[in-house]
Amino acid sequence: MKTGSEKIRLGFLASGRGSNMLAIIDNCKAGKLDAEPVVVISNNADAGALVYARKAGIPAFHLSSNKHEDESVLDQEMTDTLKSHNIDWVILAGYMKMIGSKLLEEFRGKILNIHPSLLPRHGGQGMYGLHVHEAVLASGESETGVTIHMVDGEYDQGRILAQEKVSVEADDTPESLAARVLKVEHELYSETLQGIIEGRISF
Ligand code: GRF
Repeated sequence: MKTGSEKIRLGFLASGRGSNMLAIIDNCKAGKLDAEPVVVISNNADAGALVYARKAGIPAFHLSSNKHEDESVLDQEMTDTLKSHNIDWVILAGYMKMIGSKLLEEFRGKILNIHPSLLPRHGGQGMYGLHVHEAVLASGESETGVTIHMVDGEYDQGRILAQEKVSVEADDTPESLAARVLKVEHELYSETLQGIIEGRISF
């Protein structure tokens, strides 16, 4: 149990650009989010997320199956890295791999993911990046959005904690829709975390 002055410690898993992670780090710095980003792990040595983390002075690790052929060794090393940094919550921010069973067990009920659609629409394996927004446009739906959900070991499943809608415009391309959705992502992830911290959102 945390005392009043102790902040919730966040560990990030991110594979790419890292803009959602950066938005959370910025909100922590700005005092809008009562949490502390303490470690970043990426499976991609070139991830923007690792660059952002190092600039912000946050310990950042490249751990991937290229380095560890045995997935269970990788799973153990990721779990140990998060544990050694005393993480309270694991924040998936554009992490493109399934998380391992050890990590899932160790942090069960304390792992969050963000998805750029209104799950359960347009989620699951293969639904990432522009594929999601292409599928939304192909469906003819007039709205899409952002989902924050618990991670339970299946792609884009787990209990939904927050959703926010974004309208689809007639002249949208996958890129324009992605950009509009991303702005909402950058707000909703921090708002949801703060809601959890303040006990307004139960998990
Ligand atoms: C975001 O669209 C997020 O919803 C999805 O992956 C993307 C990651 O973007 N899970 P970024 O790396 O945070 O910029």
